[in-house]
Amino acid sequence: MSKISAAITAVGGYVPDYVLTNQILETMVDTNDEWITTRTGIKERRILKDKDKGTSYLAIQAANDLLKKSNTNPEDIDMVIMATATPDMPVAATGVYVATQIGAVNAFSFDLVAACSSFLFGMSTAAKYIESGRYKKVLLIGADKMSSIIDYEDRATCIIFGDGGGAVLFEPNTEGYGLQDEYLRTDGIGRQSLKIDAGGSLLPPTAETVANKQHYVFQDGKTVFKFAVSNMADVSEKIMARNNLSGDDVNWLVPHQANMRIIDATAKRMNLPQEKVMKNIHKYGNTTSATLPLCLVDYEKQLKKGDNLVFASFGGGFTWGAVYVTWAYDPN
Ligand code: UT7
Repeated sequence: MSKISAAITAVGGYVPDYVLTNQILETMVDTNDEWITTRTGIKERRILKDKDKGTSYLAIQAANDLLKKSNTNPEDIDMVIMATATPDMPVAATGVYVATQIGAVNAFSFDLVAACSSFLFGMSTAAKYIESGRYKKVLLIGADKMSSIIDYEDRATCIIFGDGGGAVLFEPNTEGYGLQDEYLRTDGIGRQSLKIDAGGSLLPPTAETVANKQHYVFQDGKTVFKFAVSNMADVSEKIMARNNLSGDDVNWLVPHQANMRIIDATAKRMNLPQEKVMKNIHKYGNTTSATLPLCLVDYEKQLKKGDNLVFASFGGGFTWGAVYVTWAYDPN
């Protein structure tokens, strides 16, 4: 029997309608369009304004977009992996609710939490289930309602993040297309540099933690930047080297969208021109678990069967890595 690889066979995505521009942020905190654009590359981001909707809403919309576009029967899905840093609730996995809501009644589901690398680590996880031969359709969703954990009085973080969701379907392939290799890393040294202090078992919520704004994201941007800019490039270079890929062989870099300068540094190290780099940071900001699948949605029509894609991410924890995929279908 031929070896089974895990191919991406469909993508879907969703972003909310409300657009939070740099100009609007200028009226909220002491910042300006020029600073945000030159330091991050971000012009605007989408925000889910509805108070009664959580990350599951973004995930359901993204998954339904995929199901509709690919004409997939949700009852055929074997598992749903929900990559997120902002679950609807601390207990009762968001993915379980999402799977039921989209009609994936024969699937089992769980949440996968690894900050901005949740989706990348989810790709690795989804692929293992497919490669086992036991699972035929694995739906990986990356979604985050970052606006639910951001302090809109903190200019260091509120200009960066946005809300969104993306989904990909993994299926077995016996022609060699799909996930080829991965290099995933973590280092707990990063725990203090990008975090939410309170609300977990270490520091449960109290009136004091709320008053101290300890339920919002804190980021020591400079430290995270330093680690991100070198490590994302390192793993991308490494995965190319061990698969004998030169810049000419790589058709696309699919990078996590945290900062345009980090993306540019990674592309430069890989010897890739700008035209081969997927970007949505200018219009969505950093959507955490949704950056990679939302890139695929935007660029799907330009992807051809056999294209070599290198996915790369860096996130809190620290968590980071690169995944090498050969694309399995032509645009229709
Ligand atoms: O996705 C998960 C992983 N996250 C990342 O990869 C993010 C990595 N870090 C970054 O992208 C960057 O560090 C930031 C975009 C967050 C910040 O950019 P930076 O170039 O590192 O700026 P900085 O924090 O060193 O701040 C430079 C100056 C400071 O002023 P002084 O001390 O030089 O007077 C800040 O107070 O810019 C000031 N500043 C701002 N000014 C206008 C900080 N935020 C703002 C702002 N508008 N929004």
